[in-house]
Amino acid sequence: MDTKVLKVSDNVTWIGVLDRDIVTFDVVMETRYGTTYNSYFINAEKKTVVETVKEKFWPVFEKKLRQVTDPATIDYIVVSHTEPDHSGCLSRLLQIAPHAIVIGSGNAIRYLSDLIGGNFPHRIVKDGDILDLGNMKLRIISAHNLHWPDSMMTWLEEEQLLFTCDIFGEHFCHEGMFDDVIPPFDDAFRYYFNVIMKPYSKFMLQAIERMRHLPVKAICTGHGAILRKNWKKYVEVTEQYAREYLQNPISNRVCIAYVSAYQNTGLIAAKIGEGIRSAGAIDVEILDIEKMELSTIEQKLVEASGIILGCPTFNQNILLPIYQVFALINPIRDRNKLAGAFGSYGWSGEGVKIMTSLLISLKLKPIDEGLMIRFTPHRESLEKCKDWGKKFGTEFLSRDNKP
Ligand code: FEO
Repeated sequence: MDTKVLKVSDNVTWIGVLDRDIVTFDVVMETRYGTTYNSYFINAEKKTVVETVKEKFWPVFEKKLRQVTDPATIDYIVVSHTEPDHSGCLSRLLQIAPHAIVIGSGNAIRYLSDLIGGNFPHRIVKDGDILDLGNMKLRIISAHNLHWPDSMMTWLEEEQLLFTCDIFGEHFCHEGMFDDVIPPFDDAFRYYFNVIMKPYSKFMLQAIERMRHLPVKAICTGHGAILRKNWKKYVEVTEQYAREYLQNPISNRVCIAYVSAYQNTGLIAAKIGEGIRSAGAIDVEILDIEKMELSTIEQKLVEASGIILGCPTFNQNILLPIYQVFALINPIRDRNKLAGAFGSYGWSGEGVKIMTSLLISLKLKPIDEGLMIRFTPHRESLEKCKDWGKKFGTEFLSRDNKP
């Protein structure tokens, strides 16, 4: 069993856990480097734990916690964000820390009531509040919508440590933990920003403004590296990514993602692509997604401002890979993107109707009811596909599809 704890500063110890084996996070986000769930113990007069870890790691977490303190003496448990990868052990921790008070935003305390069920001792805090730890102070810095409405950061003034939970994190697992010890992780950092934080770029810039003046010694994240040497670099690149996104939230790219059993739907995809390009300067990406990794598909969805899905009708339904694409669509991120559906069919052709209706449910904007072609597209129907593509491209260029 992993029992390693790490000193971050005189009175703060990392007691998080390593999850090397995770393949996808939240089921869909690829974690090729694994991840960590970072928890910290502050050995102040008022003993404090910042975040817990995913529930399945309770035995490891408990062992680490007992190395640094008797849980019965814990005064505060700070929950910066309630998603279960951070709050998953809270319930069990409260059982062995009967005097502990849970500290969180109003939203966090509300969410926790549902997550762990029932009441628990708590204190709601807001931006600027100070949590008195006796010989130290924790200042609350609101980080609303990064990436949930409950999120906040905390600043331990005396040790100059900023606890940020998901913010400035990445999915990367290495027992060295510190940014100056572990192998390069910049690609994991960028991917994490793109998939999790990008839609909240406006809030990210606000959070960075709130922490900019702080004399930080280290940023204690909730996932991946503890940033002690290059924290400025990671704050700066985050700011840069957020500004880039806000300056140009609409890319010039349309993504056509399809599966095709006999290449009929593939032929339609190619012709639609031709039609879109004929409408003007649009970057069209056509993807046969059958064997593509979900993380790659998700990245393509993030980058595109127009999303078209193609699937043949099979047994009055669509095929699993396309359902997976629907699972990757994030209505917060992809809301109002121009969209469309197409596919080959033989008898009744329900596939296109199903896709169009799901696109609407996920808050995208289909240009019409979709394009259905019976069996194999020949000359006339290929022209129809091209025309449909041109219609899509023309609407796309009108930019009425602004997010
Ligand atoms: Fe790491 Fe949003 O949970």
